[in-house]
Amino acid sequence: MSDNPKLSRRPEWTALEDHRAQGQPQLRDLFATDPGRAERYVVRVGDLRIDYSKHLVTDETLALLQELATATDVFGLRDAMFRGERINLTEDRAVLHTALRAPRDAVIEVDGENVVPKVHEVLDKMSDFAGRVRSGEWTGHTGKRIRNVVNIGIGGSDLGPAMAYEALRAFTARELTFRFVSNVDGADLHEAVRDLDPAETLFIVASKTFTTIETITNATSARSWLLAGLGGEDKAVARHFVALSTNAEKVTDFGIDPDNMFEFWDWVGGRYSYDSAIGLSLMIAIGPERFREMLDGFRIVDEHFRTAPAEANAPLLLGLLGIWYGNFFDAQSHAVLPYSHYLSKFTAYLQQLDMESNGKSVQRDGHPVGWQTGPVVWGTPGTNGQHAYYQLIHQGTKVIPADLIGFARPVGELSDELKAQHDLLMANLFAQGQALAFGKTAQEVRAEGVPEEQVAHRTFKGNHPTTTILARDLTPSVLGQLIALYEHKVFVQGAVWNIDSFDQWGVELGKVLAKRVEPALTEGADVPGLDPSTTALVAAYRDLKEG
Ligand code: F6P
Repeated sequence: MSDNPKLSRRPEWTALEDHRAQGQPQLRDLFATDPGRAERYVVRVGDLRIDYSKHLVTDETLALLQELATATDVFGLRDAMFRGERINLTEDRAVLHTALRAPRDAVIEVDGENVVPKVHEVLDKMSDFAGRVRSGEWTGHTGKRIRNVVNIGIGGSDLGPAMAYEALRAFTARELTFRFVSNVDGADLHEAVRDLDPAETLFIVASKTFTTIETITNATSARSWLLAGLGGEDKAVARHFVALSTNAEKVTDFGIDPDNMFEFWDWVGGRYSYDSAIGLSLMIAIGPERFREMLDGFRIVDEHFRTAPAEANAPLLLGLLGIWYGNFFDAQSHAVLPYSHYLSKFTAYLQQLDMESNGKSVQRDGHPVGWQTGPVVWGTPGTNGQHAYYQLIHQGTKVIPADLIGFARPVGELSDELKAQHDLLMANLFAQGQALAFGKTAQEVRAEGVPEEQVAHRTFKGNHPTTTILARDLTPSVLGQLIALYEHKVFVQGAVWNIDSFDQWGVELGKVLAKRVEPALTEGADVPGLDPSTTALVAAYRDLKEG
């Protein structure tokens, strides 16, 4: 949008700069003067209770941030997205992951065609197939039932199903084994299949484009492994390989029957795709009903984002808070710290969602940005991180806003003793939120009798901002709600920064160069155009390999 005035020259931006220049807000003071913020700065969406009271903001800050959102027409772009307009400018595509969870009777048009019936047709086909695999009706080439499901994909065709499978493990068919292969390192596939019986193994080849070299290479090797184990009969492939893709032609070229293909569309971005056909492995794991509950969860937050007023709109608030720290405190990263073992892959999933979307340095019209864009997203489940990197968050020199995510009840069939551990887990979450926000003053440290030479070391300055997201249980619906919350938060930030959050040209160069370098490694070919450093590295690699 070239008629957009430069973001950092907007009066709403400079108003925030002036506001920030008034000094560093202190959480101790903010709570002392306004204890009511603990209840007021909470937004409820579906089953999520989102507490943003421990942020370095006042009512004035929030109002100024909302003015920035209005000035940058975040809601205008939101509406264009929901309407199916081609807001992914560089790829000239609609951005309609929200259509994947629309109810059957909804009408969402792309180029004059209602896409909702197609979405439900594929969901029904997936449900039928998942049901047949789960019941044992779908058998392998030798007639044995399928007991192992291996998803082969990378990026959005891996991270979503792999994350959600872990997250919802308590709901999965425990008699089936699920594995996720993504890395072109042969070790990944080797470890995934080494203890499996090919006759009982189903491969799901997940690739939007069906041209991604890692996935096609792994799928080709998986086919060789399968055929070697089943006597080399090509027709075995039909019972052991299905594809999830937008590219029917390439799927057929690979040798997968188009009847065994589950389709999605170019208006679903890879990192927004696990609620499309890409979720087939998950659907087999948790069953079609649970999968649809998850879609309902996504929809709750979609509707909230579409309709809630700015001051109570959770994705808007979280997006704006991120902008407050990234652009006005120079925060470089954002930690996502789930206090749930089941969310062990949640942050890795968000890394692609956020960093592939908003890791951009030009505006939508191609002009360079003059402001920070997406943060480095990182984190692992609590309490493990507490014994590793939390030291740096507490006492290091960096501003690191963090999300603490927890649940009131444990999921799964835990023993009473293990269930009782849940309170200890959550006590850690609450303790961290408190310690990060309020720290411990030198005076408090001295009052404990700490020797003077240690006081500075044992003082916590606090004032580290956190959002606390609580829900009662980690259910399929709640997972859908959480993911949609982050999807729309990322959207909000991209809209304010005026970048295209839906392309990913930054991953292309590496792909092209890898193809060019490979012959130098395998055949020692002379590859023109390699820089001197890479040429030397390639020579060293070949020496080591042959030595
Ligand atoms: O890494 C780039 C990327 O294009 C991602 O956006 C995508 O999720 C991933 O590769 C996999 O792509 P595909 O599903 O087409 O194999």
